[in-house]
Amino acid sequence: MTAPTPDHYAVVGNPIGHSKSPRIHTLFAAQTGQNMRYDALLAPFDGFCETALAFKTGGGLGMNVTVPFKEEAFRLATRLSDRARAAGAVNTLTFNGDEIFGDNTDGAGLVRDIRSNLGRRIAGQRVLLLGAGGAARGVILPLLAEKPAALIIANRSADKAHRLAAAFPGISGGGFPELAGQSFDLVINATSASLHDAHLPLAHHQFAPGCLAYDMVYGKETPFLRQARAEGAATADGLGMLVEQAAEAFLVWRGIRPQTEAVLAELRRP
Ligand code: ATR
Repeated sequence: MTAPTPDHYAVVGNPIGHSKSPRIHTLFAAQTGQNMRYDALLAPFDGFCETALAFKTGGGLGMNVTVPFKEEAFRLATRLSDRARAAGAVNTLTFNGDEIFGDNTDGAGLVRDIRSNLGRRIAGQRVLLLGAGGAARGVILPLLAEKPAALIIANRSADKAHRLAAAFPGISGGGFPELAGQSFDLVINATSASLHDAHLPLAHHQFAPGCLAYDMVYGKETPFLRQARAEGAATADGLGMLVEQAAEAFLVWRGIRPQTEAVLAELRRP
């Protein structure tokens, strides 16, 4: 008797060579006993839709989408979740007949990492979100759902933060100088400054006592995390968010939520 063909999934991006998603989803599949295969696909910068549709035509059931294609995936979807619509970006596609369902699990992954893995509540806390690009926008709705006492967006270009904040009720945004005198219990870096080892203009008093500083970038000691630690804040990188957004995508596809603790520990092993 031949074994049933595994259900086929993939992550698509450019670059994609260093993606940890195939390893994460392969570990999830083994843990939950799902017969699935998960590959990494490099799409040309001008060829995302062709790559995604060829994968679908070939029988693929779903895709994770990473930089720089999340906005294109949003446009390709024929149906969107509320959180994908709010994010303006899609990181999880599900193919079902003619339908292409677009979801965004990034914000849920961030919230779950902060709550479950790091043991911090967001409810009632003063939250500062740094950045006003796609990474910041993607996490606003799930953060708001936790009912923080305040959610403030700060960005190098103040007008971009104003515009982004205006799209969501109850939050405010501006430039870094507008943060003067304010302090926060949770500071989340969603800028791409960490990728360029750039310092952010934060004052020491912006990290309240007991503050958690969270950088969405993972695998490096960023200037933001270095500064936060020097100011006495607890720190976390974005590896937990990566694993948790993957678990949430796995749940969307397979209806089972994998355990993440052992997978995260395995990825952290040197
Ligand atoms: P992403 O989709 O990863 O969010 P993006 O849309 O290009 O990427 O947004 C990058 C974000 O990082 C922006 O908020 C950008 O600030 P500007 O809107 O002012 O450009 C921010 N950013 C990038 N480099 C930065 C730096 N050196 N200092 C501060 N902010 C920076």
